[in-house]
Amino acid sequence: MKITLAQTAGFCFGVERAVEAVYEEVEKSEGQQIYTYGPIIHNEEVIKDMRSKGIIVLKGEEELAQVESGIVIIRSHGVPKRIYKKLENKGITCVDATCPFVKKIHNIVEEQQKSGRKIIIIGNSTHPEVEGIIGWAGDEAIVISSKEEAMQISLPENEKICIVAQTTFNYNKFEELVEIIREKRYDIIVLNTICSATRARQTEAKRIAEDVDAMIVIGDKHSSNTQKLFEICKNACENTYYIQTLKDLDKKLLKSVTTVGITAGASTPKNIIEEVQINV
Ligand code: F3S
Repeated sequence: MKITLAQTAGFCFGVERAVEAVYEEVEKSEGQQIYTYGPIIHNEEVIKDMRSKGIIVLKGEEELAQVESGIVIIRSHGVPKRIYKKLENKGITCVDATCPFVKKIHNIVEEQQKSGRKIIIIGNSTHPEVEGIIGWAGDEAIVISSKEEAMQISLPENEKICIVAQTTFNYNKFEELVEIIREKRYDIIVLNTICSATRARQTEAKRIAEDVDAMIVIGDKHSSNTQKLFEICKNACENTYYIQTLKDLDKKLLKSVTTVGITAGASTPKNIIEEVQINV
């Protein structure tokens, strides 16, 4: 059986950096309690391992309010500005593992909003990354993710606006929504802040899936980028299987195939990918 493993499978730069930050803190924390603000990545296996090392996952601001000391690690998705203020006011050590690409969006929207532009974020309003960006973009920021929402935007003519995107938003859809807003005669600045890591992973997955008899997509069932990856591969290769770990793989299904492709979502650790690659 010939196995092709996608080069872009697994952790992206931002996730890798955040996970490393957690383990580094475990090494040097000297008994201080370590918290992560939200699960550091969407992967049950990794979170289980972190919990076994005594790390506590804070679900949100209410739980943060109960914390009086220790170290809080901010995950790659980033957080609203007010969270940094809360940590500072309490004197809690903050380890900021916000992905630099997300941090760049925070800086852009803060600057643009200060210079008088209304911010439009193209992304999923309930995703933590977008919630974080909103927290830097001022109270009047608008979030849209569909054509209908883009059409409904109604601001005075010549209004100054700045458009940014959630890092994992679909590129074609972003362009489509920007075009709709462009027709409205505003004074527009568009900054395409989509991260290339997601696109590269999807393009490579599609290319491999088109070429193999069966395709395996590895990732946590709650990971939205893995779900998207699965959809893309399934469209290109009918025999596509979504697994969380090797345990989920029904090897009987691969009995008569000669070529297998493997890819994995941005929050899938290397050891899980390798285990599948070796035992498939
Ligand atoms: Fe950062 Fe892109 Fe990953 S924004 S967290 S490197 S998908």
